[in-house]
Amino acid sequence: MKSLNAHFRKVYGEGGEIRSFFSPGRVNLIGEHTDYNGGHVFPCSLSIGTYAVARKREDSFVRFYSMNFEDQGVITVDLKEIIYDEKDDWANYPKGVVSIMKESGYEVSGFDVLYFGNIPNGAGLSSSASIELATAVLLNELNDLHLEMVEMVKMSQRAENEFVGVNCGIMDQFAIGMGKEDAAVLLDCNTLEYTYSPVVLENASLVISNTNKRRGLADSKYNERRSECERALSQLQEHLQIESLGDLTVETFEANKQHITNPIDQKRAKHAVYENVRTIEAAKRLKAGEFDAFGQLMHESHVSLRDDYEVTGLELDALVEAAWAEEGVIGSRMTGAGFGGCTISIVENQFLDSFKTNVAKTYKEKTGLTPEFYVVEIGAGAREVNQLSEAL
Ligand code: GLA
Repeated sequence: MKSLNAHFRKVYGEGGEIRSFFSPGRVNLIGEHTDYNGGHVFPCSLSIGTYAVARKREDSFVRFYSMNFEDQGVITVDLKEIIYDEKDDWANYPKGVVSIMKESGYEVSGFDVLYFGNIPNGAGLSSSASIELATAVLLNELNDLHLEMVEMVKMSQRAENEFVGVNCGIMDQFAIGMGKEDAAVLLDCNTLEYTYSPVVLENASLVISNTNKRRGLADSKYNERRSECERALSQLQEHLQIESLGDLTVETFEANKQHITNPIDQKRAKHAVYENVRTIEAAKRLKAGEFDAFGQLMHESHVSLRDDYEVTGLELDALVEAAWAEEGVIGSRMTGAGFGGCTISIVENQFLDSFKTNVAKTYKEKTGLTPEFYVVEIGAGAREVNQLSEAL
């Protein structure tokens, strides 16, 4: 905490009131590639995330600095003209949020900000949505905008879609903004209605396993999946009154799937429909304390993402299969966009050590890569922290 403040003063100089913010990363328990298909997701916010230390300026300049990208130095922009610039790299995410807020008619003044994140980069735990929400919350507080969190969530998603040009759904920003300690949020991405489900795992923990494979082609493949689902939807709409794939029951899908003429599009739509139904079911099971049933649904989710949606790949499959073979594993699946990144497992505490040792060994034999494991806690959503120690 002290070091972030000291670092801020070193970069930007003494004086003024410095305020501190924290925005978590997220992990999705189940409900993958359903958000942009109008289905349900079931993510939670993590206790790891992005810290932001900020001070208001009297002029129209905004200065960004990240301790994770120190070699890029301070990046300065003028509020009067904020444009996407490839060489600004990571700073395009917070720049996008500032730009969308201004475009939405909110009066914001200049500021200096220093970020520090402890979410492993490129691991699919939403470090970008985390920095977006950190920025939205600090803008809200520094300028007394009194915005609702859901507004900030939507503006952050727009920043990513319109400013950065990544066509993501709303899950990541929503989980990060609206997350609650020790709870997962069941979100209907069609209506944005949501409920919290306490995650009380008794003698087990949430373990994120990192393939340490960067998500290389993820963005183009992600957009390809979106188009495949859109094509499937429009063919179904010629016969059914639906707005999204999330409107379909399994029965209606099965009775109408022949209208999707391309077999690949049909598989993608099948995943979207079944995964949505699975997610609603999983939330019920968790609430009832039926952990084995929840774990079984996680298993089915991974199989569907592997065989029908085809977004897993060698590394994610190897890591999940190694986990499935271990004693004390309640459930395990890929999480996030796929093609690399992380898996999420629920592991009984007494088997945590053997889980890490054995999974690492099998995974390395299959892929040549060394995985990393994080036993995570579910923390609260993006917020101002008076004492940074509250978040640390
Ligand atoms: C990425 C996107 C989300 C969601 C997931 C897949 O994390 O940012 O909107 O689509 O992939 O579930």
